[in-house]
Amino acid sequence: MCGIVGYVGGDDALPVLLDGMRKLEYRGYDSAGVALVKDGRVELAKKAGHLSELEGELQHLTLDGSLGIGHTRWATHGAPNDINAHPHLDCGGRLAVVHNGIIENHDGIRDELVAAGHAFRSETDTEVAAHLIESILERDGCSLLEAVRRSISVLQGAFALVVISVDEPDRLIVARQESPVIIGVSEEVGLVASGIPALLPFTRDIVPLENGQIAQITPGGYEVFDLKGAAVEPPVVHVEWDMEAAEKGGYEDFMLKEIFEQPEVVQNTILGRVDPSGRIVLDDVHWSADTLGKINKIVVVACGTSYHAGMASKHAIEHWTRLPVELDLASEFRYRDPVLDEHSLVIGIAQSGETADTLAAVRFAKEMGSPVVAVTNVVGSSITRDADAVLFTHAGPEIGVAATKTFLAQLVALNLLSLYLAQERGSMEPEKIAETIVAMNRLPDQVEEVLSIQGEVHRAAKRYADAKDFIFMGRGVGYAVAMEGALKLKEISYIHAEGYAAGELKHGAIALIEEGVPVVALLTGRALYDKMLANVEEVRARGAQTIVLAHQGDERARLLANELFEIPETKPLLSPILDSVPLQLFAYFVAKERGLSPDKPRNLAKSVTVE
Ligand code: G6P
Repeated sequence: MCGIVGYVGGDDALPVLLDGMRKLEYRGYDSAGVALVKDGRVELAKKAGHLSELEGELQHLTLDGSLGIGHTRWATHGAPNDINAHPHLDCGGRLAVVHNGIIENHDGIRDELVAAGHAFRSETDTEVAAHLIESILERDGCSLLEAVRRSISVLQGAFALVVISVDEPDRLIVARQESPVIIGVSEEVGLVASGIPALLPFTRDIVPLENGQIAQITPGGYEVFDLKGAAVEPPVVHVEWDMEAAEKGGYEDFMLKEIFEQPEVVQNTILGRVDPSGRIVLDDVHWSADTLGKINKIVVVACGTSYHAGMASKHAIEHWTRLPVELDLASEFRYRDPVLDEHSLVIGIAQSGETADTLAAVRFAKEMGSPVVAVTNVVGSSITRDADAVLFTHAGPEIGVAATKTFLAQLVALNLLSLYLAQERGSMEPEKIAETIVAMNRLPDQVEEVLSIQGEVHRAAKRYADAKDFIFMGRGVGYAVAMEGALKLKEISYIHAEGYAAGELKHGAIALIEEGVPVVALLTGRALYDKMLANVEEVRARGAQTIVLAHQGDERARLLANELFEIPETKPLLSPILDSVPLQLFAYFVAKERGLSPDKPRNLAKSVTVE
């Protein structure tokens, strides 16, 4: 997500901050900002757009000081404009805060602080941290370290915070809860950053903070404490990475890094969307229950991987809301004279928010008078301006061209949207919604568990990397996963692969099965399990090699599988969030075995802005 850098030392902080921010800019480029402490004042510069915009602005300013913080933003709460750019100040302008993550309970804290007289300038969740720390300092008269410690017992969600104050101009205070932040160990200066690349010009010795830890960093020293304020001594880690490896977090490719970020992405997309009473609250979706009550059908439009997220969501929406769902490729939609009116709710899905066909489909729907909700990963993208409501996925920037973490985030967001519609329309018992939320909250750990079978997936990829054709098959939501699995393989390994609804195989594709053809089968669906099992038998009987995804401990599946990927169990409609992960890994490892670069597949673009 966002990039954070903090520096305290003898030298001028600004060049150090800008250099670090440049190295972290791939993490977020909606806006950038710096704050420096000098002569009892916080000096601030922040600007929407790429870091170069801020650098241009800084040429007209004289900002210096030996204590400073910098931030490159990937917007989640509030548009990517100058005001919402970090750092954020308290009312008195005595302290400055940068943040990576999402403060889930920001609304409630903001209301209390406003009632107590605090004036907010931005729409961000981050600004509450600045005012909260200010209020604790005023109330308790404690040190900045202590005020930050007290503040984080109030803040919920995911955050890495770095705080500086004019009253303690020799230190950086850092706190971590879920979002990564790393101290750079140095004998001369004090350093902190959200990623290793920013620290490498100074040091290869780092201290990654653990959840619930707070640190005080001074020139040449640091102290780390737990939530209760007791001193702790986390180990110092020595890193050998070069700059490129550091940007990829030590992974060989961005795609692999992004696949491994998925537990956090799933968590971030859920964060802040279920209030303490268990109600789903989607900040930027605010139609009245009356408007939602009048909806009589839902139309989902998208392209590529986003379309596959839409395919899976059709099942959840229909099951939970009992509304009929039409699903269209955005490139087909507006040319087929679709029937739409003000009672049709249109969901446009686009990770980039810029896909030309999806934008045109959304505009068409608006012209027909239909309410439109966009599901996208990019705040400020074109689709957010065209749609009436937006549901952001919180995946952070995705560099690999083939979508992975944005896909998982879309699946999560669409499940939340489906549950929200069911909640508002009263089509699902509150207990059932609560049960589903409990299952969703387990997903980050379960995705982690799936990632742990990467060894098995890699071995299978080695065995089949020379295959000419692949067939992926599934039923129900498993069909959507099969389509996405085949697309991932095609995109980055250039092997011909097709996704099928397993029941359709005998209407044509089974003619392609001969000795040795690999068939990937999704056996994780409970309802149609026996039918899927029969389909696997059918292809085996014709010589197929079977790569089977099944629940842990499924012995029947084991007997039919040449390769078995074991997946933990979740609610059936949530299973694509787990089942897609080994197929992403499989495509990745096959591409690597074939000597290809997964991050930049030939002929493809991350965002297709032409028809
Ligand atoms: C391109 C990308 C795909 C993506 C598709 C739709 O083809 O390479 O990864 O799924 O566009 O992109 P969108 O931004 O609309 O989700």
